[in-house]
Amino acid sequence: MNKVPNHVAIIMDGNGRWATNRGLVRTEGHRKGAYMLEKLAVHILNTGTKYLTVYAFSTDNFKRPETEVTFLMNLFIKMFKSEMDNIIKNDIKVVFSGRKENLRDDVLEAMEYVSNKSKNNKKGILNICLNYGSQEEIVDATKKIVKDVQDGIINIDDIDKEMYYKYMYKDLPPIDLMIRTSGEQRLSNFMLYQLTYSELYFTDTYFPDFDEKEYDKAIDAYNNRDRRFGKIKDGSENK
Ligand code: IPE
Ligand code: IPE
Ligand code: MG
Repeated sequence: MNKVPNHVAIIMDGNGRWATNRGLVRTEGHRKGAYMLEKLAVHILNTGTKYLTVYAFSTDNFKRPETEVTFLMNLFIKMFKSEMDNIIKNDIKVVFSGRKENLRDDVLEAMEYVSNKSKNNKKGILNICLNYGSQEEIVDATKKIVKDVQDGIINIDDIDKEMYYKYMYKDLPPIDLMIRTSGEQRLSNFMLYQLTYSELYFTDTYFPDFDEKEYDKAIDAYNNRDRRFGKIKDGSENK
């Protein structure tokens, strides 16, 4: 039987190279990538996976040329305001992870808009990481924990590894399968805490070409992995 990962994460990489290889401007790759995300999110959350986390824009992506950053921010607004009908129709709830600081008001407003519009949806959760950095997330969580200790809401001895999840930008379960497109094999400051026992799948395919068929190949690979979580294979356990 096919195992369905509960939480899938994707580093949607290679938009720029997809476009450059076709003699197009990089931004065309971002446009195509955004279109692919919409289709893919519906497919993935229709296979029984409950959570899909995608890396859309890292805190470090602000270091790119201003024209590319502006294009991406405008693309996000357009997507969130008018191009997520299919996602909403498919009963998917959209949430965001990342820092609000440095994001334009109109971007924040578009994020708010799609979050609100989809807030009662139940089939699955699409977590979009925008202005996201994982070390930043862990630092921000730690500050919130320290504050709650200072305010007497929790005791220092209550802090454990499960509690950290509750203080992350979004309280979502650990990631089971992490996919990175475009051939790069690195994490680029993505979900360092939540990937602890995740299976990692790397493909040379650029994100604008990473369609449902390509995703199903990742699921096949996932099904051939043996997840041991530190135990041994025969299933015997020292409890
Ligand atoms: C991923 O594609 C999208 C973002 C980081 C916003 P890239 O823009 O990184 O594409 P490449 O890696 O340069 O090809
Ligand atoms: C990671 O990709 C961020 C996103 C996909 C949004 P990058 O293209 O920014 O990562 P590096 O620079 O290759 O590590
Ligand atoms: Mg890249």
